[in-house]
Amino acid sequence: MREQTRPTIYRIMKYWGKKPHNIWRKYIEKYSDRNGIVLDPFVGSGMTFFESIKSNRIPITIDLNPISDLCIKCLTNRTVDISLIYDRANKIIMKIKNSAFYINEYTTSCSHCNNDVVIYNYKKNGKSTITYKCQFCNEIYTEERTYSEGNYIIDKWIPNKKLSDIESISSTFLRKINQDSISALWTNRNLKILSELYALILKERNDEVKMMLVFGFVQSLHLTSKMCIPRNEKSNRPLSTSWGRPAYMLSNKIFEQNPLIAFEKAIFNGTGVIKGLNNSVEYLGQNIQNFGVHYLGSSNEILKNINNKSIDLIITDPPYGNIIQYGDLSEVWVSWLEKYNSKYVIDHKKEIIKNKNKNDAFYQSELCKTFIELNRVLKDNGKFVLTFNSNLKKDWDNLFYAIKESGFCINEVIHQKNKRSSEANVSAKKGIAISDYYFICTKGKWDPIIIENFYLKWEQLR
Ligand SMILES: C[S@@+](CC[C@H](N)C(=O)[O-])C[C@H]1O[C@@H](n2cnc3c(N)ncnc32)[C@H](O)[C@@H]1O
Ligand SMILES: [Zn+2]
Repeated sequence: MREQTRPTIYRIMKYWGKKPHNIWRKYIEKYSDRNGIVLDPFVGSGMTFFESIKSNRIPITIDLNPISDLCIKCLTNRTVDISLIYDRANKIIMKIKNSAFYINEYTTSCSHCNNDVVIYNYKKNGKSTITYKCQFCNEIYTEERTYSEGNYIIDKWIPNKKLSDIESISSTFLRKINQDSISALWTNRNLKILSELYALILKERNDEVKMMLVFGFVQSLHLTSKMCIPRNEKSNRPLSTSWGRPAYMLSNKIFEQNPLIAFEKAIFNGTGVIKGLNNSVEYLGQNIQNFGVHYLGSSNEILKNINNKSIDLIITDPPYGNIIQYGDLSEVWVSWLEKYNSKYVIDHKKEIIKNKNKNDAFYQSELCKTFIELNRVLKDNGKFVLTFNSNLKKDWDNLFYAIKESGFCINEVIHQKNKRSSEANVSAKKGIAISDYYFICTKGKWDPIIIENFYLKWEQLR
């Protein structure tokens, strides 16, 4: 089965390790019946939630990352007044556009026609430049301009989480950034604009509109941080860039984007919040609110509240060892969300992952505890579909240990080639072929032969 192009709902929010949605749905449809209950204890950006609804199943999903909660709440909302999102977003954008700090930093006059233009970005890549789009000349211009980070007094709330508390941050990064607050991920200029923008968003009195604006704001955060680097000049896309790799990184090359434009795009553009909401209605239908349930929190705690043998299918994509530090990386967004909703904090201690402070034993035992709960809540004839990949044998050993100890057995191993290379593959040393492994498990007696065969094949492919 081929991977299809992602619908807009899957393109709004950046997250790592998104699976091909149509393949995911194929498994849901194959291994559960209509109206069946589908559980995902590590739902990430929400694919199991949406694909279960799409295939007329009832999702129960869990993730300790507040981003999952925000994504699912926004994209299943059917009551927000979309015209009000337009209206409020535009008002906020106008307010910032007319502020002295914005005019100072992100407007200039076109050196060809002298009209006022908006600066899209500052770049430092050898020389320092600005890029602007002139509507009058109908051209994009890049010109040299001395680079400064800005020097504003920031009197609105900004996140103050300590960078040094983020476990996966390297000492080189800390040394380079030379400040211990997460707010140092943005230049003073961008932080000024972001803080003013956020303060206006948080003043919004309509809760649904506020949630959508926050959702848009979050997506502009990583794109306006110091972690963005210029694209290769050959790509010929002088107006945009992205956060290069799934790691906290700083480069000597800078691509500093205009936060207001990033926000505007995150609300109005092709992969913005409004298009996402419209796409969600198109893709999932109108009457889906209160259909299924998502929980914010740690899986093995939340699973305790789910009845024995009540679940028809479990389908999940657990963290793969230390490959992507989901919780740490998400602080770029979540450190801001705390001000919006005091429940929106990541409980890092409970994240199942490997890093400086969490060794293989922790990873293995937490995964195992969760799988034991999964076994308890699954109906006796229910399937447990799980996808995984790693270049490290130890990660596989941990996974298989957890499957076995929790009373599951593997019935089938499917090697699925994907169109795009996932982050897990990119960061792997040799580049695990562009693929994922899917394991179809049931309750029952463990058969070691399947694993022996798996390792033989895996050794050849890796
Ligand atoms: C591989 S990702 C899932 C990505 C997902 N397939 C998607 O499409 O976005 C694993 C997820 O597990 C979550 N996670 C890790 N430990 C957890 C725990 N103890 N309880 C709940 N969720 C946890 C992480 O926050 C992360 O979102
Ligand atoms: Zn011009």
